[in-house]
Amino acid sequence: MKALLLGPNGQLGQDVLRANQARGAPLTIEPFGRDRADLSNLDEALARLGETQFDVLINCSSYHKTDEVESNAQLGFTINAHLVRRLAELCAQRNARFVHVSTDYVFGGQDKRTPLTEEDAKAPVNIYGASKAMGEDLARAAHDDVLILRVASLFGVAGASGKGGNFVETMLKFGRERGHLRVVDDQIMSPTATEDIAAAMLDLVLERAPAGRYHVVNDDGGVSWCAFAREIIAQAGVNATVEAIASAEFPTPAKRPPYSALDNAKLKTITSAMRPWPAALNAYLRAKGHIR
Ligand SMILES: NC(=O)c1ccc[n+]([C@@H]2O[C@H](COP(=O)([O-])OP(=O)(O)OC[C@H]3O[C@@H](n4cnc5c(N)ncnc54)[C@H](OP(=O)(O)O)[C@@H]3O)[C@@H](O)[C@H]2O)c1
Repeated sequence: MKALLLGPNGQLGQDVLRANQARGAPLTIEPFGRDRADLSNLDEALARLGETQFDVLINCSSYHKTDEVESNAQLGFTINAHLVRRLAELCAQRNARFVHVSTDYVFGGQDKRTPLTEEDAKAPVNIYGASKAMGEDLARAAHDDVLILRVASLFGVAGASGKGGNFVETMLKFGRERGHLRVVDDQIMSPTATEDIAAAMLDLVLERAPAGRYHVVNDDGGVSWCAFAREIIAQAGVNATVEAIASAEFPTPAKRPPYSALDNAKLKTITSAMRPWPAALNAYLRAKGHIR
């Protein structure tokens, strides 16, 4: 099976390539990075993509600088929604499977405060979330064979190229430098290792999982950023204190979901790739040399 991978140099994209290699390359993956096309130029990007053969198109690209998107909505909707529709249409023409990565930020405005399932209604609270929600809907309207993987709060050895790192590295850096961290305790999410998402993605593709949405997060989700930071600092043995603060004390241009933890029960019917997040964090910290 030949797969084309958009966003191959990103945090998740790199782990998809690594996971496939580690399994003996069951997929032939062709990277399609920024060097091949600027994805914000839809016509040019689709022309380049149209020259390439594939059975599966994997989209790990995104414009996900959440605060920046608030004042740059046009680019957000171009990459996260309109491009996604065009990719789904191309897959429909080719009879190819479309594997698209979305986000827990399609939620946040709902009242529910238990892990959210694939059946819960989307309720984004910022423009990035709205653009990703629209991308999901347009993809499903354009093509029957779409796998949507909603992921959350990623940490991977490459670090997000779009964000210049990840939360784990930021906490370790500031913890070491300052000895004291102030972290929001009223935003609940599901921290997730890109290594595990990549493994689950391969399983979904290779097992020919039914089309639809899947919540692809590590187990025991439903933790605050503050509790996540405390676990990072504790596991890495950094001498720092972590103070819980309210979101109101850390204003950002984009509103964040107060609750976006995801239920991964549906995914578990297909794969056992998702560990509890503290175990995934431990593996990450070892891989990065933060603990031995
Ligand atoms: N990071 C998180 O915490 C998080 C949370 C929830 C959901 N997600 C979703 O997870 C997916 C993967 O995220 P990630 O952390 O791996 O992101 P990432 O490291 O920033 O990777 C995104 C990729 O998209 C590519 N890209 C962006 N704009 C492009 C453009 N105009 N033309 C060509 N390529 C472009 C980037 O290329 P370059 O490498 O050349 O810049 C990069 O390879 C995304 O769909 C994101 O929305 C992420």
